[in-house]
Amino acid sequence: MLPSLVPLLRSWLPRQRWFAGKGNPITGFSLVSATEILPCTAGGAAPGLLHLLVRAQQQPGTADCYQLLIGIRSTLPPHLAHTLIGRPAEGPLHGHTVYEALADPRLAGLLLERLRVPGRLGALRFTRAPGTAIASGLTPRLITAEQSNSSVVYGDAYILKVFRRIGTGVNPDLELPLALARAGCARVPHPTAWFEADPGVEAAAGAGLASVPADDPAGGPLTLGILQPFLPGSADGWQLALNSLSVQADFTGAAHALGRATAEVHTALAEALPTAVLRRPQIEHIAGGMTERLEAAASAVPALRPYREPLRAAYDELAALGDRGRTWHAQRIHGDLHLGQALRSAHDGRWSLIDFEGEPARPISERRRLQPVARDIAGMLRSFDYAARTHQPASGGAPGWSRQWSRQNRAAYCGGYAEAAGTDPRDEPELLRAYETDKAVYEVLYEARHRPDWLPVPMAAIRRLAGQREDAPPPARLPAYERPFPTPPRRTQP
Ligand SMILES: Nc1ncnc2c1ncn2[C@@H]1O[C@H](COP(=O)(O)OP(=O)(O)OP(=O)(O)O)[C@@H](O)[C@H]1O
Ligand SMILES: [Mg+2]
Repeated sequence: MLPSLVPLLRSWLPRQRWFAGKGNPITGFSLVSATEILPCTAGGAAPGLLHLLVRAQQQPGTADCYQLLIGIRSTLPPHLAHTLIGRPAEGPLHGHTVYEALADPRLAGLLLERLRVPGRLGALRFTRAPGTAIASGLTPRLITAEQSNSSVVYGDAYILKVFRRIGTGVNPDLELPLALARAGCARVPHPTAWFEADPGVEAAAGAGLASVPADDPAGGPLTLGILQPFLPGSADGWQLALNSLSVQADFTGAAHALGRATAEVHTALAEALPTAVLRRPQIEHIAGGMTERLEAAASAVPALRPYREPLRAAYDELAALGDRGRTWHAQRIHGDLHLGQALRSAHDGRWSLIDFEGEPARPISERRRLQPVARDIAGMLRSFDYAARTHQPASGGAPGWSRQWSRQNRAAYCGGYAEAAGTDPRDEPELLRAYETDKAVYEVLYEARHRPDWLPVPMAAIRRLAGQREDAPPPARLPAYERPFPTPPRRTQP
């Protein structure tokens, strides 16, 4: 069956926002598993639903596994025309039309039905959290926002996140909210149900179906999708921050509350999951990694080079403290925390944190490592700065006000964190500075590659972190980066 889909996928897959290998041609596909969730009856009007895990080979050695939900109909009704993948010219699907199933309310509804009834189906295993019930008959709608995965909202009651690039091992986006639910932490939507594929499990009976390979030495199921309560009427922190900047409204109360929410999540994670003490070798490793990333970024982005030495000093200082016997705590953290990962309820102003998958580009094993909470805090501090710098004051507006907004909200966030955690992240300035620098260096590389007009945003932070004035004039001509990026990134912090 896969050979008949290959020509269609070769052109359709790279056009999807969530396709990670943009800019490089796909050289081949291999089937990991195929599961018929709903058979397509010949001549019948009802659509069929096929679940596929396929590996797309790109450059030698790169083969990412993607999850596809394929709708099958004899003809596509006009309202689904935009979801077309194509019409296979041969094979078992010849004569049918295949399309993105999540956009079809009938098929997205069927997926919710599967989640209501725990059990196995071919390579797939559906699980419902104990003591939960899932209402039926909710109207599905596929979210159109640009994301690295796909999400379907069911009648404002649930949101189903369908992961697209599938790494081996349990995804922290399931693991951490489940642990937080067990710990009674109400700062995250608790998973209601989820579906996975077991490594080594035989796929559905049928011609040409492969099995899910047990290629993860750590084992563990592959997380494919998570259903959780939808928080209706909530707005994300990035949007709220930009609104506050545009009307020059105070945000410090919200920033303080967000600091508290972050601390509560960190405390619950430390109680629920393993922790560790970082000593000299681990600190050296962390500082070494940061230094390597700085060197790589400075070779790629000339604007960074004048600041190399003072930035390096932040990492050297951290390593030196480790040499002198200083230790830090490490634990499971969010891993990709920024304002866009926080939702504030319109009803009571309460913050929730979402999207615990970490940085999707990194392997799951790396994302599950124990790390200092300073990494999350630094991410959020950078986000306040990003919002303030991104915000274009209306003509006559004062850029100085945005800078002050950033300073005040960064302080309010740390203050809220300190209140709830009992320790102030600013009391470990070397660690916080090192993580903030590491993040700003990443941002510089990202902006230089993908949207050079945004480069001044992280460069201002680079100057501050290097001990210079933030507003020192930027280099006369900002260097462009040669790598293409066909899909424009979202207008948020990277
Ligand atoms: N429980 C929820 N209630 C309401 N909205 C939600 C909820 N979870 C997620 N969302 C909305 O869906 C969007 C995407 O969710 P999420 O960040 O988990 O997906 P993602 O594919 O990992 O996105 P990204 O590419 O930004 O990492 C969020 O920005 C938010 O607007
Ligand atoms: Mg994400």
